[in-house]
Amino acid sequence: MTEQHNVTPATDWWRDAVIYQVYPRSFADGNGDGMGDLAGIRSRLPYLRDLGVDAVWLSPFYASPQADGGYDVADYRAIDPMFGTLPDAEAVIADAHHLGLRIIVDIVPNHCSDQHEWFRRALAEGPGSVTRERFHFRKGRGQNGELPPNDWESIFGGPAWTRVPDGEWYLHLFAPEQPDFNWDHPAVQDEFRSILRFWLDLGVDGFRVDVAHGLVKAPGLPDMGHGEQLRLLGNQVLPFFDQDGVHAVYRTWRAVLDEYAGDRIAVAEAWTPSAERTALYLRPDELHQAFNFHYLNTGWDAASLRAVIDASLEAMRPVGAPATWVLSNHDVVRHRTRLGGSLDRARAAALLMLALPGSAYVYQGEELGLPEVTDLPDEVRQDPSFFRANGQDGLRDGCRVPLPWSGTAPPYGFGDAGTWLPQPADWAPLTVASQAGDPDSTLELYRAALGLRRTHPGLGAGDTVEWLDAPDGVLAFRRPGGLICTANTTGAAVKLTERPGRVLLSSLPPSHLSTSRHLLNTTGDYVVAADTTVWWEE
Ligand code: NOJ
Repeated sequence: MTEQHNVTPATDWWRDAVIYQVYPRSFADGNGDGMGDLAGIRSRLPYLRDLGVDAVWLSPFYASPQADGGYDVADYRAIDPMFGTLPDAEAVIADAHHLGLRIIVDIVPNHCSDQHEWFRRALAEGPGSVTRERFHFRKGRGQNGELPPNDWESIFGGPAWTRVPDGEWYLHLFAPEQPDFNWDHPAVQDEFRSILRFWLDLGVDGFRVDVAHGLVKAPGLPDMGHGEQLRLLGNQVLPFFDQDGVHAVYRTWRAVLDEYAGDRIAVAEAWTPSAERTALYLRPDELHQAFNFHYLNTGWDAASLRAVIDASLEAMRPVGAPATWVLSNHDVVRHRTRLGGSLDRARAAALLMLALPGSAYVYQGEELGLPEVTDLPDEVRQDPSFFRANGQDGLRDGCRVPLPWSGTAPPYGFGDAGTWLPQPADWAPLTVASQAGDPDSTLELYRAALGLRRTHPGLGAGDTVEWLDAPDGVLAFRRPGGLICTANTTGAAVKLTERPGRVLLSSLPPSHLSTSRHLLNTTGDYVVAADTTVWWEE
């Protein structure tokens, strides 16, 4: 590549990187059709540079019928016209690199779209054809094959099998429009190595691997046998998730990544029963990072947080991988809402996460303190899980509402036209424009925190935290470089026995610092306000 690359050449950049997730449909609309796109992303890259993140992860923008927001890919080497063109993607990569940002793209290897050429051929060529072997086609059970081949359930609800007109069934762990690949087939393995190279040649810095734990199924596709709704984080290993055979795939992927200069990485979306099993994906010859869903699933409670932080660090140490931390993404209720609806708490959770050793993921809009949108009418819903699970699990649209950039009414500068999901009428104070420059705003808190991570590299460094004594409900730990983080997870102000140092940054808005809510010193006591994290310099 001749393209200029301004990102720092330092190896291991990813070990303490802050990686910002862009969900392209909902980030920024460049062509005024109400749908976010690559032109919109490109125009907002300076915003991300100014925010202070190191890398941007783009959820899928590939050619797709959008049965699952683009996680149903029809062509892994083409851009969906709704998002732009291949030159648009190249321009995003080039501009990002000029701005010093790295780009990570999503890769979806567990399944494709039912409109993918391979699946269309498999359907057309019929039972016994070689093209069917690239997927999981089976005869059904029952007298006339009228029952699914086994008892597996789709993550989105209902059976994981759909019958085609010639009588065979195919496996889809997600929607019927997302047939699972057969990863025992060499053509599938070759194709994905080729897709990796395609994007690496275009200059991407890495991949986020969708359903990384799902590629390999237990031989013979045995019944789950539980007769109950599957539980992703249960302590049992399911016959379609986290099978040991999946690691051979990632060893071949690592070899491809290592062929390229510039420290290209892969981060696994791996739901496994334990942090120890997640660590297996991160052995030195496999992937680089995995999302820490155990952390995301932990409530705002000092003891539980300390336990999951210790367990995460402990599990990663033997494989030498950095721990990662995440509070929100496009699949879960936004953390402001999930942690009880309090903005104070959401801000405190962010500062705690950003003081931990390793890499952190920020989901678009959390830097604005966006809440989950919980009142979307049924007729605007798009999440396939909403329709397949009788509406009881429709929560993924509420975190995907397009971002508010400016103005006082929808579409809040998202684009010139409407938005593919309606935005709330009361988001004017949450826009980027209204928060920028306001020291009390959540946007300025994130900017300050990310700026301090650059000037105080100790904040993300290493693989340990040094815990300090703290009152019940408070976490206190020291980071390299003389920094101390205290997080009060209780709903009341808590007295500290001694002053940890000079306040570097507090999650409480600065204008509240002078009020009686915070850091009282009237009697010589140092007090941290309820639901507040403070970074101190010793
Ligand atoms: C995980 C993705 O994050 C989610 O959005 C998607 O529905 C499933 N994988 C299936 O690809």
